[in-house]
Amino acid sequence: MCGIVGYVGAQQAAPILVEGLTRLEHRGYDSAGVAVLASGGIRVAKRAGRVRDLAEGLPKRFAGKVGIGHTRWATHGAANDVNAHPHTDAPAGQARVAVVHNGIIDNAAALRHRLTEQGVELVSDTDTEVLAHLIALSGADTLEGKVSEALAAIEGTYGIAVVHVDFPDRIVAARNGSPLIVGVGEREMFVASDLAAIVRHTTTVALLDDGEIASVTATGFTTYRQDLTSTAKTATVLDVDPAAYDAGEHESFMSKEMHEQPAAAERALRGRLDERFGTAHLGGLNMDARETRAIRRVKILGCGSAYYVGQMGAGLVEELARIPADAEAASEFRYRNPIIEPDTLYVAVSQSGETIDTLLAVQEIRRKGGRVVGLVNVVGSAIARECDGGIYLHAGPEVAVASTKALTNMFLGFALLALQLGRVRDLSIADGRRLIDGLNRLPAQIEEVLAQEGALAGLAERLAEAESLFFVGRVRGFPVAREGAQKFKEISYRHAEAYQTSELKHGPLALISEAVPTVAIVPADELTDRNVAALHEIAARRGPLVVVTHADVDLGDLEGRPDVERVVVPRNERELDPILLTVPLQLLAYHAALHLGHDIDKPRNLAKSVTVE
Ligand code: AGP
Repeated sequence: MCGIVGYVGAQQAAPILVEGLTRLEHRGYDSAGVAVLASGGIRVAKRAGRVRDLAEGLPKRFAGKVGIGHTRWATHGAANDVNAHPHTDAPAGQARVAVVHNGIIDNAAALRHRLTEQGVELVSDTDTEVLAHLIALSGADTLEGKVSEALAAIEGTYGIAVVHVDFPDRIVAARNGSPLIVGVGEREMFVASDLAAIVRHTTTVALLDDGEIASVTATGFTTYRQDLTSTAKTATVLDVDPAAYDAGEHESFMSKEMHEQPAAAERALRGRLDERFGTAHLGGLNMDARETRAIRRVKILGCGSAYYVGQMGAGLVEELARIPADAEAASEFRYRNPIIEPDTLYVAVSQSGETIDTLLAVQEIRRKGGRVVGLVNVVGSAIARECDGGIYLHAGPEVAVASTKALTNMFLGFALLALQLGRVRDLSIADGRRLIDGLNRLPAQIEEVLAQEGALAGLAERLAEAESLFFVGRVRGFPVAREGAQKFKEISYRHAEAYQTSELKHGPLALISEAVPTVAIVPADELTDRNVAALHEIAARRGPLVVVTHADVDLGDLEGRPDVERVVVPRNERELDPILLTVPLQLLAYHAALHLGHDIDKPRNLAKSVTVE
């Protein structure tokens, strides 16, 4: 959450910082600010609201060729002008230090107390402000030394960038638990929490490690450990297409990313399917056949949508490999002192690779000697680095807060894992090949679902009128329903509740009425008849129905009723159907939110990466 960008070079910093912040805004968007080193000292502009508000209010004369910027998702203190970053050690005109910070300083309260006793006047409610004062008060001779000394006093997580009037040629940055990169340009350098902020300028970057400090001038950078011994890090060129970070002709990133799913799915599968032996090759797992065979249980950990797709993944593992598998919210896992078993394969699933709850779950498992692999989209992210091995998702950059293409590729990652686990056990070669055929058909079938967008938009507009909705499904369909409800509530702000269809009559049926539509997941499978029976119970209570189903499912006398809508998705192998059933739910959520006039890519109260507990 929150985004950092910094610039040092020959150009005016402010426009570059503002543009970088615009590209980081999905990470946090309740306030934004920039600070530049000007001839008369530090100039700061910051305010609550969006980056565009900051840009509009930026003073005309805001010159300076070294600067830092920040877009915030509030953790300490309200989202107001004062709490916005950058934070300084003194009021405008007298400030010597400006700091931007991602993360949380756990001992901020104690440090605030100590600083106040020393006569320091703190003006904001933030934890970050203490850092500005600690750096200003440091007696070290260099900015690197001052930052190092200040960091030694704090406990918690941080990615920071600092400028100081006495060291006007540089930015000093540091990382501990919150990503930070240094970007190398032509006689100009950048600092950013995410490549998106600087990708238009450079793709030559150095990724800082936890505990590392970087000193960045217009002509180069030097990296240090916190004790200022050198780490001699060098930059590498990342193979990324800057266009991947633009919405292009799409009206939002979510729309773009939904439509990228067929291509993203192909990338996830490329080179990983072995038709000869009916299996998958996942070299990144770092496990040979003997180790794979020794796994007795699979435990999947993720948050939000990653948790729901983890439930789909657990189903795949149980069905294909016949290994007991379950998914758990990573945010709860470590708090119940979990039992870590040596023959369990733990799987951490995360688009960003930064979600703190998932990262801490991984650390808990590793601390207790467990083996954990990651299903992660962002290469080199904290979770990817912490795991013993993994499967990269290859979805490409995902910017919209609502996850779509990464989620689809997570499902495919689980399918590949289940196939590999299954084929060292009892899954037959014929079944392996059947699954491979199914996986190869998926990208075109996702395209078929996306082609129904026009019809789904009309349906979504009607659903958007309801204040409250149910999403129901059974077994393979239940995580689909959970993910559908999640997407719907996340961006439309309607109350959408997921239930097992089988549980309706144990309570929630009481809420069914004309005003409460139900989106029901009814694939053609061994549970179709039971699902259709439940639909009749809903219809009998005049509940409007949207049935997401296959063409050959017979809804009996529900067919043709004005309050029963049918959304038909193509059939694949039954184990792979969940992901095709998920795609229309993305479109329903998207068009409901569009109809309601919401900011699709930046839903209220949320941020793309949840890096705080
Ligand atoms: C998805 O639409 C949500 N924005 C959210 O639930 C997300 O999946 C969750 O926060 C996990 O994020 P991660 O995949 O980056 O770990």
